[in-house]
Amino acid sequence: MNDFVGRGVLVVGGGGIGAEVCRQVAAQGGRVFFTYNRNEDAARELAGSLPEGAFAGHAQLDVTDEAATAAVVDQSVQALGKLDALVTTVGYLHQLTMFEDVDMATVRRTIEIELFGVINLAKSVLPKMRANGYGRIVTVGSDSGKVGSKAEAASAGARGGVIAFSKALARETASSDICVNVVCPGPTETGLLEQMLADEGLSGKLMNAMVRAVPKRRAASPAEVASMTCFLASERASYVTGQAISVSGGLTMS
Ligand SMILES: NC(=O)c1ccc[n+]([C@@H]2O[C@H](COP(=O)([O-])OP(=O)(O)OC[C@H]3O[C@@H](n4cnc5c(N)ncnc54)[C@H](OP(=O)(O)O)[C@@H]3O)[C@@H](O)[C@H]2O)c1
Repeated sequence: MNDFVGRGVLVVGGGGIGAEVCRQVAAQGGRVFFTYNRNEDAARELAGSLPEGAFAGHAQLDVTDEAATAAVVDQSVQALGKLDALVTTVGYLHQLTMFEDVDMATVRRTIEIELFGVINLAKSVLPKMRANGYGRIVTVGSDSGKVGSKAEAASAGARGGVIAFSKALARETASSDICVNVVCPGPTETGLLEQMLADEGLSGKLMNAMVRAVPKRRAASPAEVASMTCFLASERASYVTGQAISVSGGLTMS
């Protein structure tokens, strides 16, 4: 497949799933600009692994910083030539805790990153996509935003917000050939899941139970989640907008 020939894609968050999105876009002929937050070493490694013609650059970004987000979006447009798709894979949740035990600073930070981060990015990319008369916005969220999930209430609230926000944007932008969708992964084999499964407390207990409950009887590979994400970020998804699509091995069927 050559879904991304002539296309420029900004991937925000080059972690486990984000890195795989970068690789698939590159393999399908596209150009990628990606961001990282704290993990500079992994970003350097990802940058070095992408084919030269496909890699347009990378930058450090905290999506809660509105001005920095706008600046990095501008930087990516300059590097890519034009911005055809935005894929956001940013997440803050790394530990499961019952809501009554979470401090409010963590609740606020979670919502700042997982919901306002997505909103800040949309605010910056939309005028550019509108001017081009084309765009794809895909956010990798979570099934917790559809069905709730124990011990991640703040994150579930943020993810639910992302789904509703994306549906509203989809309605506002459909006539400009801009599609806005959300991918909701179930447990996916990245460093994030590995860390949670190995936890000896509540996170490990709940995540191991969740993986056992998946009808497919295994976690997803990052490639399986990236594959749906890339489809939605491509021109082929021209008639799909306002959707929150689960890639969860049947864990959630709603
Ligand atoms: N893996 C799973 O089982 C699973 C299941 C359901 C949903 N998800 C969701 O899918 C998404 C990707 O997951 P993943 O497994 O690939 O996780 P990951 O490897 O931890 O990736 C998360 C990414 O978010 C970036 N990030 C964190 N805080 C940020 C901030 N303030 N500003 C900008 N970037 C920030 C991280 O950058 P640095 O690493 O550079 O700090 C990293 O690239 C996340 O939203 C996650 O919650 C994952």
